[in-house]
Amino acid sequence: MDKKERILIVDDEAGIRRLLSHKLAKAGYACQEAENAERALEKMAANPAELIILDIKMPGKSGIELLPEIKAKYANTAVIMATAITEASNAINCMREGADDYICKPFNLEEVVISADKTLEKRRLELEIKEYQERLQQKVDEQTVEIRRLFLGAIEALVFALEAKDKYTAGHSRRVTKIALAIAKELGLSKGEVEDLRWGSLLHDVGKIAVDQSIQNKPDKLTAVEYEHIMIHTQIGAGIVKPVVNDRVVAMIEHHHDRYDGTGLNQTIAGEDIPLGARIMAVADAFDAMTSDRPYRPTLPVEEALREIKRCTYTQFDPLVARAFIKISDSLPVIKNGQAAASKALKAKR
Ligand SMILES: [Fe+2]
Repeated sequence: MDKKERILIVDDEAGIRRLLSHKLAKAGYACQEAENAERALEKMAANPAELIILDIKMPGKSGIELLPEIKAKYANTAVIMATAITEASNAINCMREGADDYICKPFNLEEVVISADKTLEKRRLELEIKEYQERLQQKVDEQTVEIRRLFLGAIEALVFALEAKDKYTAGHSRRVTKIALAIAKELGLSKGEVEDLRWGSLLHDVGKIAVDQSIQNKPDKLTAVEYEHIMIHTQIGAGIVKPVVNDRVVAMIEHHHDRYDGTGLNQTIAGEDIPLGARIMAVADAFDAMTSDRPYRPTLPVEEALREIKRCTYTQFDPLVARAFIKISDSLPVIKNGQAAASKALKAKR
């Protein structure tokens, strides 16, 4: 019979170690021996055992002291404490500290084998349950990711449909995303930050679903009340996406119209307290808005839009972000399409 499991017998008395080794080997276990705590740790490091039979009383570090160390380092190793019959209360305390069973000296060898069998069986079952729970958790995690992906896809489609309905905003979120990601690259944002920014930019205006179209497309200057109505889209958008994106993306959407100097409508934070993604989106959003037709004005030339971004640096825009944007503006598709010369001329003047 080969049970294959390894048992490490830790006892300072060579006779006891040999006796247990011999009996447990006959029962089909692969036995190792250690005469003290240090040797036991060395043996465990070299070849971890599934079960340790640990003498409580040993010169140097005792079994009671070694037990928590073993449990911390080798959580899947079971431990049976070995003790003199007169000190059984020590063994019971050890079980409270994580030992799985205890055996009393002088040993009844049959009982030792029964204890080892029982303890290892319990360990196998616990490991199986643990593995099952891990697999289950993994499945739940995978399904959560898939559900989030589907939800995000649906919201994204909603944004595009919403924009497509209106000739002034068609394709706005996609263009803002391209510009925002180009700025992020220039600023050296991490992969995770870029992914957050991508979702933030794609979904930044989803709250416009709640905005009155007649106000949004009004050809004249908005009244203060109308402006306030339009600006609720930041809060509404953040609320729509909250169940399916992380808090960083929610914050980006909530603050994408915040001004760097803190003077925006109902603004609660300023400067670098505004999430970096929102500060990037503010520049990308403003540039795309300026270089697109709006009901109240025609497209601005790129040169003029860049000049406006520069003019509003420190007030509306973060200087770091605005500078990065101006630096990469040549390579943006909208500028590449015929207006590169204007942008170059502006940069030459700086
Ligand atoms: Fe917006």
